[in-house]
Amino acid sequence: MSERAASERHVPVMRDRCLELLRPGLDAARAAGETPVVVDATLGMGGHAEALLAVEDDVVVLGLDRDPQALQLAGERLSAYGDRLRGVRTVYDRVDEVAAENLPAGRGLAGVLFDLGVSSLQLDEAERGFAYSYDAPLDMRMDGGEDSEDETAAELLARVSEAELRTILREWGEEKFAGRIARSLVARRADRPFATTADLAAVVDAAVPAAAKRTGGHPAKRTFQALRIAVNRELDVLADAVPRAMDALADGGRLVVLSYHSLEDRIVKRAISARTTSSAPVGLPVELEEHKPTFRAVTRGAETPDDAERAANPRAASAKLRSAEKIRAVRSTT
Ligand SMILES: C[S@@+](CC[C@H](N)C(=O)[O-])C[C@H]1O[C@@H](n2cnc3c(N)ncnc32)[C@H](O)[C@@H]1O
Repeated sequence: MSERAASERHVPVMRDRCLELLRPGLDAARAAGETPVVVDATLGMGGHAEALLAVEDDVVVLGLDRDPQALQLAGERLSAYGDRLRGVRTVYDRVDEVAAENLPAGRGLAGVLFDLGVSSLQLDEAERGFAYSYDAPLDMRMDGGEDSEDETAAELLARVSEAELRTILREWGEEKFAGRIARSLVARRADRPFATTADLAAVVDAAVPAAAKRTGGHPAKRTFQALRIAVNRELDVLADAVPRAMDALADGGRLVVLSYHSLEDRIVKRAISARTTSSAPVGLPVELEEHKPTFRAVTRGAETPDDAERAANPRAASAKLRSAEKIRAVRSTT
């Protein structure tokens, strides 16, 4: 593992704006005489969590991550905060269960933050197999593989049909040359299975027309992204997790999500819009209580980082930030 301190490896994206968006949720908990409890669903190296713990001195953060290495590093880094940071190794679609395990019965969260995707730690650790720029076994499992239920990228590449591979590359990698790349990968694996990142990167490179390589970064970038999303079932898990996070919020609690991929952002947008619009059937003369929106959108559309942040932090370039506030807990009508 590299010697660089975790704090140097990762700059939290839109940090101050995330804190600003979370703050009214913390104030709502305080006004109710409660300690504000926030779930950082993607603890990573703890950049956002650290900022929150430092600025809001009564907040408790439940820091979730499926990657044990991230939890260990963040735990060490934030040890000064004692039990105000509780690390939980889990996939974030258990956000509501983790909240219930850590809150008194009937209480909700003051906030939930998601900062999606891989961390710089994961990209930097060559042996994890996320990066086309290092040669390593083709793994890409965010949970590090130990007692993992997910298959590795190498196993996935050996199993899927050419048509499935083409869809994965086109949809999750937004790869223009999905058809050509899928054909080349399938032809090559008939000969010898893929085992390393360099091997995969070289075959993708050869499949992409030379003229297309002049722009858009490394030709294998989108293929690696697509396989990482597939290996970790990132979009399915996210689609399940966001509504669960919304369920776990207290009245006045806030959801804040940073996404980096248009499909992630679409999932978040839809989940927010499902709760911020009336569910009353068209034509009903009055809106019944149970049809009223239970959230209000806090951001107008998606916010993006300013030019200075985009220039300073390449990871911020594609960031989209959305937030919503719970305005009314769903009450039983019986
Ligand atoms: C971009 S990093 C978060 C960085 C963090 N906000 C910081 O400032 O250090 C995303 C983290 O989320 C974790 N992660 C991604 N998908 C996850 C999932 N479905 N469940 C739990 N953790 C996940 C990754 O392992 C990674 O450590």
